[in-house]
Amino acid sequence: MESKLPSVGTSIFSQMTGLANAHNALNLSQGFPEFDAPNRLKAALAEYSTAGHNQYAPSPGVAPLQEEVAALIARRYHQTIDASQQVTVTAGATEALFVAIQALVRPNDEVIVFDPAYDSYRPAVELAGGKTVHIPLYAPDYAINWQIVADKITAKTRAIIINTPHNPSAKTLKHADFDALKALVAQHDLYVISDEVYEHITFDGQSHLSVLRDAELLKRSFVISSFGKTFHCTGWKMGYCVAPSELAQEFRKIHQFVNFSSFTPAQLALAEMLKYEPQHVDELADFYQQKRDVLVTALTPSRFKILPSEGTYFLLLDYSAISDLDDVAFCRYLVEAHGVAAIPLSVFYASPNEDKVIRLCFAKEQGTLLTAAEKLCQL
Ligand SMILES: Cc1ncc(COP(=O)(O)O)c(C=O)c1O
Repeated sequence: MESKLPSVGTSIFSQMTGLANAHNALNLSQGFPEFDAPNRLKAALAEYSTAGHNQYAPSPGVAPLQEEVAALIARRYHQTIDASQQVTVTAGATEALFVAIQALVRPNDEVIVFDPAYDSYRPAVELAGGKTVHIPLYAPDYAINWQIVADKITAKTRAIIINTPHNPSAKTLKHADFDALKALVAQHDLYVISDEVYEHITFDGQSHLSVLRDAELLKRSFVISSFGKTFHCTGWKMGYCVAPSELAQEFRKIHQFVNFSSFTPAQLALAEMLKYEPQHVDELADFYQQKRDVLVTALTPSRFKILPSEGTYFLLLDYSAISDLDDVAFCRYLVEAHGVAAIPLSVFYASPNEDKVIRLCFAKEQGTLLTAAEKLCQL
């Protein structure tokens, strides 16, 4: 059969995890926590299931979870949204991204994507018949030149996908970025898909600049988040999309045929967690900042150049002082010879990128981080 996604193969994440297992290496490649979800959340999941909440939820989500998401948005971003009309619970952020893209993108539409980019954007745009227009950002600051973005906009441009805090660069968008984005959206009638799955993980006192803070921008946006990232339960595949009612309606038309509804007892358990342990969300940034600092301190004596991590649970290392290998070959060497699995940055780019940078995930126990750093210090 002719493939609809001919350039998609086995992802680097599966490859590196396979190599990490084969070499019994420390796996700092794939972005998932090594520690468990909160006890209350796990207990609530079991309780709701035992109590018989095991049938289809309403397609947009159970009301208590929609309401808790709206309350969270009011508390963190001072924005009022209509829980029942604007919040749709999905099977992870992945489903929300896919559905938002299918709702927006028509054949031959163009969607602007910043590389390095999360790997699901491009296939979702292509399956909708659209084309991604890639704007590469480079180490060490991965800053967006908005003049280049303006130059790339054509009559076919439909949307811009942003991701802040950003995987894999660990950078955050700033006020000036939002001002420039807003101006382009207004001038060209564009839409925004804002991937904010790491919204609660920002460091050094920086608060997260969500599209949800800006009523004007929100009118043209789908804002997407992931309970998996916030509650250390990536395997539950639970996320959500917030959009203005009119866009949410279009989103829901597609969501009902992708997933219909998300895992009922998990929705109820997440609602309970948000309601009764709001401190989990409020303490998440400090929790991860401590891990970042442990890893950064332990790596300081190494020959790697450590790039600043402003958010997410990733840290980038420049290895140009250590090796001339390209980043994919360097990651293979790292896992085989030094027992640490990392992700090469070039896999997040549509066109070849020569930066000698790798990504480490620090959502790991302190012992894992220190052992990995010790190994990396030997290079
Ligand atoms: C930037 C970004 N977007 C979306 C996702 C997908 O989130 P989920 O696991 O909730 O589908 C991830 C997960 O790694 C991510 O890093």
